Amino acid sequence: MRRKVTVVGSGNVGATVAHRLADKQLADVVMVDILEGVPQGKGLDLFQAGPVEGYDVRIKGTNDYADTSNSDLVVMTAGYPRKPGMSRDDLLKANFEVVKSAMEKAVKYSPDSILIIVTNPLDAMAQAAFRVSGFSKNRVMGMAGILDTARYRTFIAEALNVSVQNVQGFVLGGHGDAMVPVPRYTTVAGIPVSELMPKQQLDQIIERTRNGGAEIVNLLKAGSAYYAPSAAVVEMIDAIFNDRKKILPCAAYLEGEYGINGLFVGVPVKLGARGIEQIIEIELTPEEQAALQKSAAAVRELADIIKV
Ligand code: 2OP
Repeated sequence: MRRKVTVVGSGNVGATVAHRLADKQLADVVMVDILEGVPQGKGLDLFQAGPVEGYDVRIKGTNDYADTSNSDLVVMTAGYPRKPGMSRDDLLKANFEVVKSAMEKAVKYSPDSILIIVTNPLDAMAQAAFRVSGFSKNRVMGMAGILDTARYRTFIAEALNVSVQNVQGFVLGGHGDAMVPVPRYTTVAGIPVSELMPKQQLDQIIERTRNGGAEIVNLLKAGSAYYAPSAAVVEMIDAIFNDRKKILPCAAYLEGEYGINGLFVGVPVKLGARGIEQIIEIELTPEEQAALQKSAAAVRELADIIKV
């Protein structure tokens, strides 16, 4: 039997997630939104691409959460987008209300699902979904680390003129300006990146990675990135549905790991059929640890404001 994924939000991120899921035939998709007509129209349009693309998955748009019942996984993309000059944190209160109301309805109809949160500010919204759902911590996660890492890997591959597939690494911390790329664990075909690139150039790449979301917001003027974010979400779903045990950087609920307690922060995790099956703890230098704590403190501040 095919899996079923609910995508909350039929904007650019939600619709592109649905599109990628269909292309990869990973699941039937229900897109749900408060806007009338948009999820239905985009859903029908994507469904009608099936004969050409050769996918048999069902895609439907709706305003009624009853249609989402018994989903295996729910992707939360709805929320107000960032505008130029606006930080992810400005979105906090408005998007908390959106996440709260959507998650209450989604988990009522899909009590056994896994939740992937994409709405910003990402880590605080994942924490909100965790509290609202009452789900166990392995079944609630935030997508950001794969996106931030993808940007980092892209810039390194471009600078060195090598395949993006050769560049491995990860970004730790919250999905915010204090995110922590870790050059010490960044390799190019197994070679430490520091052997291949001067520190100054890598520092520039790290800075560009930190501003990666804002760079795109400033270019688009209306709305934020969606091709890379949706690709990152679908990599997570693929790892879960195919029980790949894939190690990926995701926002996960920490209970003492990395010295952080009771908070969602981006760390490497193992994703498989049960969701987050393990949090991978790696050794950090005192500087890296301090940067991670600083990033976590920024997340904590937001979580405290919305009391989650
Ligand atoms: C991004 O990084 C807006 O957080 C989103 O593209």
